[in-house]
Amino acid sequence: MGLCPFHSEKTPSFNVSPENGFFHCFGCGAGGDVITFIRRIENLDYIDAVKLLASRAGLEVPTDTASNGMGELRKRIYEANREAARFYHKMLYSYEGAKGLSYLRGRSLSEATIKHFGLGYSPPSRYALVDYLRSKGFKDSELVSANLAFMSRSGHAIDRFADRVMFPIIDVRGNVIAFGGRIMSDEKPKYLNTSDTPVFKKSSNLFALNFAKNVGEGMLILCEGYMDVIALHQAGFQNAVATLGTAITTEQAMIIKRYADEIAICYDADEAGQKATTRAIGILRPTGIKIRVVTVPSGKDPDEFIRSYGEQGTARFRKLLDVSGNDIRYQIEKLRKKHDTQIPEQRVTFLTECAKLLAKLDNSIELDVYAGELAEELAVTKNSIISQIEKYKKQSYRKARKEEMRNIMLTTSAAADRINPEKHRNLRAASAEEAIIALLINNPDLADTILSRIDPDKFITSFNRRIFTLLIDRINDSRPISLMDISGELSNEEIGSVASILNARPRENNPKQAANDYINILLDENDKMTPEKAVSASAEEIMEHMKKLKERKK
Ligand code: GTP
Ligand code: MN
Repeated sequence: MGLCPFHSEKTPSFNVSPENGFFHCFGCGAGGDVITFIRRIENLDYIDAVKLLASRAGLEVPTDTASNGMGELRKRIYEANREAARFYHKMLYSYEGAKGLSYLRGRSLSEATIKHFGLGYSPPSRYALVDYLRSKGFKDSELVSANLAFMSRSGHAIDRFADRVMFPIIDVRGNVIAFGGRIMSDEKPKYLNTSDTPVFKKSSNLFALNFAKNVGEGMLILCEGYMDVIALHQAGFQNAVATLGTAITTEQAMIIKRYADEIAICYDADEAGQKATTRAIGILRPTGIKIRVVTVPSGKDPDEFIRSYGEQGTARFRKLLDVSGNDIRYQIEKLRKKHDTQIPEQRVTFLTECAKLLAKLDNSIELDVYAGELAEELAVTKNSIISQIEKYKKQSYRKARKEEMRNIMLTTSAAADRINPEKHRNLRAASAEEAIIALLINNPDLADTILSRIDPDKFITSFNRRIFTLLIDRINDSRPISLMDISGELSNEEIGSVASILNARPRENNPKQAANDYINILLDENDKMTPEKAVSASAEEIMEHMKKLKERKK
């Protein structure tokens, strides 16, 4: 058991079963074999995950490995995106694109920066990119899947981005996965971003992480906007990244933690930015990363700040970083601004709020230091502060455990519902089906016994029927059926579901007996007349059913 790498938690609910070769998290429902694990954690498709694992194991993957359909489409989207990035970049230096280039220069970007980030310009015509990519052999449907184009009502592909400066978004493996496009006027929307596609999920990528991950400072700087990141990189802070136009997600926080021990939050100085900072602290803290908060003075964002100091920009920003406090000090300062500590009542509420805040700290030395500082400043004893903190700690501990348990229940049932929506209406049948699936996977030699008594038609829920059919088909082709073997034919979520089916059941001492028992239950459930069946049943079928019921009563 351990802490799940796919969601933030304090109590371990992620378990790995070396014997069965799979993992499963009770907290978020993630699960599967080693290939699924690599697919999820590295954000790869099936074939690439296999290749990565093979190379680690020193094995060679045959180049003609049959690739699945999704892998093929993803490959085409990567290629289309790369060509599009090249095209947009070239356009920047065309007659048409001169306004884009002058816009970027007007924002103080150097030639080297523009090249480094591969910035570009999308022509206004609405067919420039589509025409170009068609000439390179791309199908309209591929361009639509890549979200580079959309389909007009008359069925023509039309450029999605027109008359904007373009920011390619590149993943840590160097693939162009999406674009942001900024309008060069005050019109709205200011930025247009690629929607989620088979190669891009906004909530699990960070802008410029492809560069920032190589800096190796152990620290990342988190900004709000593309331009902030680019200005910082140009000023020498190449460890800056940005979320892609949304509040930071848990997924992004986990990624940040993988690449850094410390994060400097550097959001805009306006109120929205400060609110976002508090929210980001809440999301980042559970990952255990060290957090500091950089306060950019006088209502500016980092880009404007750096630019306003010209040559001095780098030194000035370095100073901001140096004086930045950690997240706790930042939050204490925010509380202090809300209270006049000269007034006793407000001093009490200030200290109480601080105690609540400090109760979130795991490190008792850290806690002791802050409590000491506050005690001295406000002339109370450190012990009184600490004992108040302990009280809140106990409360929040209980609350957190409860919350985690609740989440486990919620996500487990929500995921199960999504994957097998018929389960809750057919609980008894579905449990028997799952038991049969688990028995079969764990004891492939039972296949004959099971098949002689039951076939896929008897499975009532369609998800389980599909899994059972898949297993049977493979057995008939003499192909293996461990979770590892079948995972290539299932989505990550589906494998997670099968992993949880296996996980929920210990290996049986007498699998043959157990198989027969569960088959009996499933056959019994089949005999029940459900409302769905009754509607389409003939008179004879209903008579037959009544007869069976009578026999069973005897
Ligand atoms: P500049 O005005 O170019 O300096 O932009 P900024 O980086 O300062 O942007 P701002 O602080 O307004 O927004 C931060 C980030 O939010 C941007 O980089 C975008 O990723 C995103 N964003 C801003 N406006 C929009 C919008 O209209 N639509 C979408 N989808 N995202 C936006
Ligand atoms: Mn800005």
